[in-house]
Amino acid sequence: MTGSTGLAARFSTLSPLASGGGNPHIASMPQERSDTPAEGRLPAAPLAVTRLVLTNFRSYASARLTVDCRPVVLTGPNGAGKTNLLEAVSLLAPGRGLRRAKLTEMDRRPSADADPVGAWALSATAETPAGPVQIGTGRDAGSESGERRLVRLDGAPAKSQAALAEHVNVVWLTPQMDRLFLEGSSARRRFLDRLVYGFDPGHAARLAGYEQAMRERAKLLRDGAGDASWLTALEIQMAERGTAIAAGRRHVVELLDRACAEGIGPFPQARMALTGLLEDALADQPALAVEDEFRAKLAGARRVDAESGVTTLGAHRSDFSVRHVKSGMPAAHCSTGEQKALLISILLAHARLQAGMRGATPLLLLDEVAAHLDAARRKALFAELLALGAQAWLTGTDEILFEGLEGQGQFFGVVDATISPR
Ligand SMILES: Nc1ncnc2c1ncn2[C@@H]1O[C@H](COP(=O)(O)OP(=O)(O)OP(=O)(O)O)[C@@H](O)[C@H]1O
Ligand SMILES: [Mg+2]
Repeated sequence: MTGSTGLAARFSTLSPLASGGGNPHIASMPQERSDTPAEGRLPAAPLAVTRLVLTNFRSYASARLTVDCRPVVLTGPNGAGKTNLLEAVSLLAPGRGLRRAKLTEMDRRPSADADPVGAWALSATAETPAGPVQIGTGRDAGSESGERRLVRLDGAPAKSQAALAEHVNVVWLTPQMDRLFLEGSSARRRFLDRLVYGFDPGHAARLAGYEQAMRERAKLLRDGAGDASWLTALEIQMAERGTAIAAGRRHVVELLDRACAEGIGPFPQARMALTGLLEDALADQPALAVEDEFRAKLAGARRVDAESGVTTLGAHRSDFSVRHVKSGMPAAHCSTGEQKALLISILLAHARLQAGMRGATPLLLLDEVAAHLDAARRKALFAELLALGAQAWLTGTDEILFEGLEGQGQFFGVVDATISPR
């Protein structure tokens, strides 16, 4: 599927493909975008997916989409494949994607009781401030568990999926996240950590390393192997990485808290706070002292952890909270609509900060968001996305919800896993 056009002018200083460079989709782009940034703010250089090919992914046997850097609007009936497409985009960043599904679950099944036809694969071109990147990713059917994800960057195998964070930064809002403030802290931590990737791509690898060390320590304790020096080595890794993870989170929460305190148009002012053993300790101690103390605490907790089967202390237990400034209410006590608006405030503040600091806005995947906003808020959201120059991917069942984006977004209809330009 080929969408219309794009931003050759904006890539001209960034990418060798700007003047053609062998990429037919970019070569055919016209010179200017039609939106004008609000309040004189210039859009950042875009981060954008310009080509996406899906193979055996969910309901798609195969599909190809070519777009430019403007917002992408996907409309179609329930079950058409809109969220599946957003999930595919979310897998261009590290992690399990916006549904947190198992990799095998994403293999296409021709029917509910049929076996999958093969391992899924995605191929994409991402335009980044550093130039275009070719990304390939998919399930490694040959791996022992069947749950290993392969990643290739510009044709070369990447050591781990964390390498994707160096190139692509994706954040999302889905209907499931309506419960983000009501449920356990792990989903909020994941939400925050994804925001941190945008500021520090190394955060993804650090988290993966921390979790790996934590799993190995838990296994040693469970097996009662009693290899004290190996346990100490793992606890050193957990302490180093955990402290760096907590420091990264603190930094981003501070930045976001300041940015969200302003509010964005009709989206509410929000205050954010972070709590956790390491985050709290970093408020008044140097990182090295926090690291040493955490290592000592882990060593001291071996017996308790062995008995309970859980790692009782660490960066995996932190939480972050959000408060609605105007009402003074914690987000959990706000209405569903207010909670959604708070999340939008945070994502927009994050995108603004990213534009200013990294020179590129993240990809924003907004699943069913328009349907939950009134007309004024929809209009304000679209105006902000256009002003930011962000490539947002928006879904909805009805095109009428996207009125403010007419002529400025790329509209596709999705029906039975077939994508067509509108
Ligand atoms: N592994 C799979 N193989 C084949 N089909 C799948 C697989 N996983 C999900 N599906 C199907 O994909 C279809 C489209 O799902 P998707 O969530 O993308 O729809 P949607 O367009 O977002 O709909 P809604 O408007 O209801 O949110 C569903 O009918 C679902 O059964
Ligand atoms: Mg959907």
